[in-house]
Amino acid sequence: MKDCMAERWEQGSEFHSIPAASNIGADKFPWEGTRVLYGSGRDALRALLSHGMSERGWRRIHIPSYFCQKVARAILSTGIEVAVYPDRPDIPLSHHDSIKGKPGDVVLLVNSFGLRGKAYASVADRGDFEIIEDHSHDPWSSWARESDADWCIASLRKTLPIPDGGVVWSPMRKKLPTLAQVTPEHQSASLEKLAAMKLKSLYLSGGPATKEDFRRLAVSGESRIAAGPVSGMPVWTEDLLQSFPVESWRMRRRSNHETLCDALQDIFWVKALAPDSYTADTPFSCVLIFDTSARRAFVQERLVESHVYAAVLWPLDEPAVDGIPNYSIDLSRRMLSVHCDMRYDERDMFRVAAMIRDFGEAFHDA
Ligand SMILES: Cc1ncc(COP(=O)(O)O)c(C=O)c1O
Repeated sequence: MKDCMAERWEQGSEFHSIPAASNIGADKFPWEGTRVLYGSGRDALRALLSHGMSERGWRRIHIPSYFCQKVARAILSTGIEVAVYPDRPDIPLSHHDSIKGKPGDVVLLVNSFGLRGKAYASVADRGDFEIIEDHSHDPWSSWARESDADWCIASLRKTLPIPDGGVVWSPMRKKLPTLAQVTPEHQSASLEKLAAMKLKSLYLSGGPATKEDFRRLAVSGESRIAAGPVSGMPVWTEDLLQSFPVESWRMRRRSNHETLCDALQDIFWVKALAPDSYTADTPFSCVLIFDTSARRAFVQERLVESHVYAAVLWPLDEPAVDGIPNYSIDLSRRMLSVHCDMRYDERDMFRVAAMIRDFGEAFHDA
């Protein structure tokens, strides 16, 4: 059984099902009390935008140039006009232009990769327009807790082992969009994802499950998770949400992040993005920026062969919206997001760092 488990070691990709320790109460969320729960981050955003268009007169949303295009597609599906503002997660705040809007505009600010603090909110020149913040990459950050945005949203399954889930809250106590029913389509997608998480857990612990089985269910569930009308959150996700030791998981994320960054810091062909302070911010993942897209692709392929499933966040080669500058597209081709969450410890992070070093050194540009 031990050998089989060693063979099944992997790093990255989606969460398996992780039971909460029974003696730990849920850590507090920034939105205690007043919030509306949805089936996904995209559903939370779609519900909020429809609410804003009908009740606040929103006609246009400004979204970052470096952003998930699946989310951009969900935004477009509401019928709101979309404008893109320049956004560089790889440079300090002082180099960001301020975002200007006019009445009828709303701006989406994103704590991309959990690397930003509340100071980032100052890029939006508040005046005539309203602000939505996306805290999916660290819903418990001090920025999220101290936010003075009009509304905040988060996808919850990026940081927690749940099959689905999103939330809207309003730090300024503005009216929230209405609660939605759980749609039959969402319910079935959520159950498929839950089954995939359970099977992955069984697989990783050496049990009778195959990677093909849980991957098939995960991919099928994922393709339907935010399809169709806006859905509410299934009861099983809401119950799970209450049960996790969020703060200790965040601490693990921080220390794993630091371990990987330290282990790669002397390499000239890759740069890891780090927060200003590990005490204030908790990175979502280790964002690595390679010197060339070819070296990134080479390393990513070798990592997959070694069962390390790092992600490209976000591919921008087929953008959903116009106006994405070349530097954003170039960055997305050179970046790799390496998981550093509570599933892993220092040994895992050293193992992955050694692979990145070896594969990157083995790369020779044609
Ligand atoms: C920053 C960010 N916000 C929102 C979302 C949407 O979340 P969901 O996949 O739960 O719809 C994503 C998903 O990729 C994301 O990365």
